[in-house]
Amino acid sequence: MKFFLDSAHVDEIDYALKMWDIDGVTTNPRHVQVSGKPFITVIQEIGALVAGTDKPVSVEVNPHLDDPAKMVAEGEKLAAISPNFVIKLPATEAGFKAVADLATLGIRSNLTLVFSASQALQAMRMGAYFVSPFIGWKESNGEETFNFIADIMAIRDNFGFETEVIVAAVRNARQIIDAATLGADIVTAGLEVFRDAFNHPYTADGLKKFQSFWDQTAYE
Ligand code: E4P
Repeated sequence: MKFFLDSAHVDEIDYALKMWDIDGVTTNPRHVQVSGKPFITVIQEIGALVAGTDKPVSVEVNPHLDDPAKMVAEGEKLAAISPNFVIKLPATEAGFKAVADLATLGIRSNLTLVFSASQALQAMRMGAYFVSPFIGWKESNGEETFNFIADIMAIRDNFGFETEVIVAAVRNARQIIDAATLGADIVTAGLEVFRDAFNHPYTADGLKKFQSFWDQTAYE
C-alpha cells in the first residue's frame, strides 16, 4: 500500500520523503493557501523535491472552472511544469469530461471530491489515473465509509479498471487500516495523522520501563 502526504508545506513534504519514504503528494487549494505562497511557486517547489523520482504530485486546477476545455488548458499548463504532476479535477460533469480529454493527451488526472461510488465509477470509466474518495468529510457528516470504500474497490476489480484508489481526507490510524484491509491502493493524510498512526502510547510507556530495567542492570 502506498502512503501519500496531503500537504503543500515544503518542509513537511521533505521530512516525510526522507523519514518515511512517502510514495507521493496530494495538494488542494486549502493546503496551498496555508503554505502562504503563490500557487505556481509552491507547486514548483514541491515538483523540485520529487524531481527524478516517479512519485506523483496531485495539483488542483482552479476550482472555479466548470468548462472542460478550460480545465484541460490549465491541466496542460500545470503538467508541463513537472512530469510528476497529476491533474486534480472535481467529480463534476465537466471534470469527468476533462479527465477523458487529458487522458487522450497523455496527462494523468486525479478525480477529487468524490463522495459516492457512482462518481468513482464514472471517474474510472473516463480514464482517471487516480480517484479520491473523501472519507473524513463523509464521517463528519455522519456517513459510514467502510462499505463506501469496499464498493469502490469491488467496482474497480469487477471491471478491471486501471484507476488507483486514493482514500483521502484520512483522519486517524483506524481509517488507514480500514483502507488497507479493503485493498485500497493509497491513503493520503496529513503529517500529524501519519505520525500518530506510527506511534502508540504503550510503545513509549514500554520503552520507559525497559530503560529503567536497563539502568538497573550491569552490561557485562
Ligand atoms: C485529498 O487529496 C485532499 O487533498 C484531502 O484529503 C482533502 O481533505 P482535507 O484537506 O480536509 O484533509
